[in-house]
Amino acid sequence: MRKTILSVVGARPNFLKVAPLHREFLRRQDDVRSLIVHTGQHYDAAMSDVFFRDLELPKADFHLESGSASHSVQTARIMTRFEEVVESVRPDWVVVFGDVNSTLACALVCAKEHIPLAHVEAGLRSFDRKMPEEINRLLTDQVSDLLFATEQAGVENLLREGVAAGRIHLTGNVMIDALMQFEAKADRSSILQALRVQPGKYFLITLHRAGNVDSRETLSHLADLVTQTGSRAPVLFPVHPRTSRKLEEFGLLDKLRAESRVQLTEPLGYLDFVCLTKHALGVVSDSGGVQAETTHLNVPCLTLRNETEQLVTVELGTNTLGRGDAEGVLEWVDSVCQGHGKKSQPIPYWDGKAAVRIADVLVAN
Ligand code: UD1
Ligand code: UDP
Repeated sequence: MRKTILSVVGARPNFLKVAPLHREFLRRQDDVRSLIVHTGQHYDAAMSDVFFRDLELPKADFHLESGSASHSVQTARIMTRFEEVVESVRPDWVVVFGDVNSTLACALVCAKEHIPLAHVEAGLRSFDRKMPEEINRLLTDQVSDLLFATEQAGVENLLREGVAAGRIHLTGNVMIDALMQFEAKADRSSILQALRVQPGKYFLITLHRAGNVDSRETLSHLADLVTQTGSRAPVLFPVHPRTSRKLEEFGLLDKLRAESRVQLTEPLGYLDFVCLTKHALGVVSDSGGVQAETTHLNVPCLTLRNETEQLVTVELGTNTLGRGDAEGVLEWVDSVCQGHGKKSQPIPYWDGKAAVRIADVLVAN
């Protein structure tokens, strides 16, 4: 019987993750009716529409328009609106991605409504429960019926937490599927010329993690590090809306804008961002997705955090952890400038076929 599969997306990283899976579902139209729900957690054109365009996604079938709010209000609003959707559609599977508030909100609705739930990117743990994402991951995994892990450590975390082995599938990383599917298109981006940078001669920086940008002291320290990185090579810094607000609130925005070697931009579209990542000397970031992308593209990455939920990017990839004593960051920057950045090795299952493996399991269950 043809299955109705409802995929839930809400924030920037979700859009990349659903794209290869939706494409795979379309290849199996005899078996799958694929519907997409957009919760509206991210809503600016630069945080949402551009990804649907770049990743050739159709307009979402349902848009919950939940917008920004405190964690509790946002989660509750998404739950209330998503409940109506599942009551009317009664899907065979709901698929949630990653670790954002939309992920947990819709997972809870499925658990209460007895709708089969699959979690893509299950089992990742930073072991830091102060991160909202860690709570979202832990709870979503507890109520999921099928758990698709990106790396072996994720499988082990789930087993340790008592998840039945039969529910867990090591399928690989759909972000890498997206990257492999869209890399050639990203190569045609003219963003390097538009921002007047030379391949291999600039650093790319992104920052948005609440633990890094919400405190005045931490953000002003990180803004200094951005400036210092600029003393070694030009810096491109596409600024996430959360960070932009905080830089402004703490009086740091004008100072950074005045730095001649630091170029602040609006958040970039996926194809432009991938193109800039691929040609960067190195990337400094606190993003989850960027750790995986830089590893796949073999570009050195400094993650400005004390821990990562994607250990494999440190063990086999180009990722280095460093919350950022200034000295450590500049040492990393200098070593990358001298060509001593980490090189990546192949990661099991990060081969562009994660969506195929996930679809196989969903169709069979
Ligand atoms: C969210 C996720 C985080 C993820 C990130 C990806 C949670 C708890 N956090 O963080 O895990 O890494 O997305 O980018 O789910 N805003 C806008 N326009 C938008 C969206 C947000 O201006 O389109 C501003 C609003 O001021 C909002 C703030 O950004 O209050 C934060 O947005 P929110 O979605 O709550 O969290 P993110 O920091 O984006
Ligand atoms: N990204 C983008 N434009 C930007 C910054 C990021 O297209 O200006 C992409 C990038 O591919 C990244 C993804 O958005 O992997 C996820 O974004 P983000 O870092 O916001 O979320 P996280 O992965 O940390 O949850």
